[in-house]
Amino acid sequence: MSSRFFESSDHTKLYQQYRAQPPQELIERILEYLRSKYTGELELALDVGCGSGQNTFSFAEHFKNVVGTDISPNQIAIAADVSSQMSLKNVRFEVSPAEEINLETSSVQLITAAEAAHWFNLPKFFQEGLRVLCPGGVMAIYGYVFADLIWERNPDKNDALAEYYKSVNIGEPLSNYWPPNNTNILFKRYSNIEIPYSDFTREDFKYNKVRYLKLSSFFGEIRTWSGFQRFCEVNGNEAGEDVINDFRKRLLDIIGEDLDLEEQKAPDDVVIKAVTPFFLLLARKSFEENQ
Ligand SMILES: C[S@@+](CC[C@H](N)C(=O)[O-])C[C@H]1O[C@@H](n2cnc3c(N)ncnc32)[C@H](O)[C@@H]1O
Repeated sequence: MSSRFFESSDHTKLYQQYRAQPPQELIERILEYLRSKYTGELELALDVGCGSGQNTFSFAEHFKNVVGTDISPNQIAIAADVSSQMSLKNVRFEVSPAEEINLETSSVQLITAAEAAHWFNLPKFFQEGLRVLCPGGVMAIYGYVFADLIWERNPDKNDALAEYYKSVNIGEPLSNYWPPNNTNILFKRYSNIEIPYSDFTREDFKYNKVRYLKLSSFFGEIRTWSGFQRFCEVNGNEAGEDVINDFRKRLLDIIGEDLDLEEQKAPDDVVIKAVTPFFLLLARKSFEENQ
């Protein structure tokens, strides 16, 4: 189920600019889960479907080395660029499919996939993961779907904002453009998949990413959605901008009366709170497993 959705360089630049790092508590939970049974050195973490590297960087301070892999050369080029700007010496990036990992057997303590596993051929990915994980090594796959929009100036608007966000995400016109892996797996918050290793556990609605977003960033993130990208491929970028303008107008219909004159002139600078609940699936390769 691999994807051609993330390959244009415009899309990957948007991605780097607007997609969020997972919440810190989620990263800490993964490390705690790993360390609860694995007591050896943390030599190598692998982040699969790493995109422009947001999630990969979260592990740099915890492991001797971190590798980010992605099927899209454009994503990898941007991730490598960001990494060198951050002067991260222990992180490297490589173009490679999730189903065929270019690492030695039993060499990895942690495999992560953030907002990415629904794109993979999961049986093959799980099999390959089991090969590269060391005994006691952990796989963590996680992601998010909807955000709660919070309008702190007037919380009475929050219900309307929830309706709004849902309709933008899965209503017309994007509803017809989401790929099946989104509708069948991601929108169900991975409730229909399990990692077939030991100690499998699922945690949901426990880890929130809280952001204060300018409306320009809010709409920037919508531009990264594969449903929106697909809409533009079929109908053209101008039609895509019409959709964004309509989304903007509908949002301003809800919060517009709370804006002062300056803000009404430049609504893209107005800041809104977005709380994104992550789901997390964890499992470990048992210590007896010999691959
Ligand atoms: C929604 S993005 C998530 C990127 C990043 N992990 C994040 O947290 O934002 C999904 C990524 O998975 C990659 N991808 C899709 N199918 C893949 C496959 N079979 N193997 C490796 N990467 C894949 C895409 O190129 C894309 O960069």
